[in-house]
Amino acid sequence: MNEIRFDGQVAIVTGAGGGLGKYYAIELARRGAAVVVNDLGGSSDGRGGGSAMADVVCEEIRQAGGRAAPNYDSVGTTAGGEAIVQTALKEFGRVDVVINNAGHLRNAAFGDVPQADLDSLIEVHLKGAFYVSQPAFKVMKQQGYGRFLFAASGAGFFGNPEQSAYAAAKTGMLGLMNVVAIEGAPHNIKANALLPSAASRMIEAMKPEHLAHYEHVFKEIAPLVGNALDPKFVMPLVVYLVSRDCDSTHAAYSASWGRFARVFVGIAPGWAGPRDTPATVEQVAEHWTQIISPENYSELGQLNDEYAALAQRLAAELK
Ligand code: NAI
Repeated sequence: MNEIRFDGQVAIVTGAGGGLGKYYAIELARRGAAVVVNDLGGSSDGRGGGSAMADVVCEEIRQAGGRAAPNYDSVGTTAGGEAIVQTALKEFGRVDVVINNAGHLRNAAFGDVPQADLDSLIEVHLKGAFYVSQPAFKVMKQQGYGRFLFAASGAGFFGNPEQSAYAAAKTGMLGLMNVVAIEGAPHNIKANALLPSAASRMIEAMKPEHLAHYEHVFKEIAPLVGNALDPKFVMPLVVYLVSRDCDSTHAAYSASWGRFARVFVGIAPGWAGPRDTPATVEQVAEHWTQIISPENYSELGQLNDEYAALAQRLAAELK
């Protein structure tokens, strides 16, 4: 197979000063992309800031013969998102790839989540992805080419205790990806979401009481996965997804400890009640087995597909 390359392309990786993002940036640069290494600096719970993290990664890329430009703005404001995209345009003249990876984590039981943490998590993950992607989308539309990756999380897609605000923000990114993919399709813009797992500083910084939920799993997994807890093991899927060579769009993927898999939402046929009058609550209860059965599920391209499928079925039943 031919090597997957990014020559002539420009990539923005947010939160690329460490953890997973650093590996995405370094690998994209190694494969020919000019990379904007965005990082606010600061701690894994989103406090503080500084230029060192982005600078170190840029230096590593340049030392290896690659092209990189740092950006220290927070993704969490419209001005920050705009400035990140402007860095790419000023330094390299275009934007082909955006990896929305920046983020932080603050855990608390649902009843105890402080307002400030809810705001901060929504701001960096959900609004941050929006703020960076919106100006980039305009550039990509003009170019007729673009690739987005949204770093969401299994904590949102599947659920995870003590991460209500984080999960809500991350799953919001899935909705954002769905629409960016649909609106981007006519312009050769593709968008996908990632559900990664890796032993980055974000996970290491979790308090023992928060890690207790995972303890039994980690005990079983640790001896089996070799080095694959390392953030490096997420990188190959991400780099493939944002390449010219990958056709995927409007999809989500899990990358956990060296295993890559598609994650999807399906809808089952369910039960269709009477059309002349609403079903009774008791009818819903009576048909519960049919309503919850996953058999013969289908995947939908967009909301309209649900209506179209339903219209077809109702028409068939009326015949
Ligand atoms: P990390 O803490 O090592 O990396 C996140 C980076 O984002 C840091 O370098 C940080 O300085 C930067 N950052 C934080 N707020 C920022 C802001 N407002 N603007 C710009 N940069 C900012 O964590 P990790 O594990 O590498 O996480 C990367 C992404 O993957 C995050 O979005 C995280 O939520 C997500 N993720 C990670 C999982 C894991 O198992 N490590 C699991 C699920 C999702």
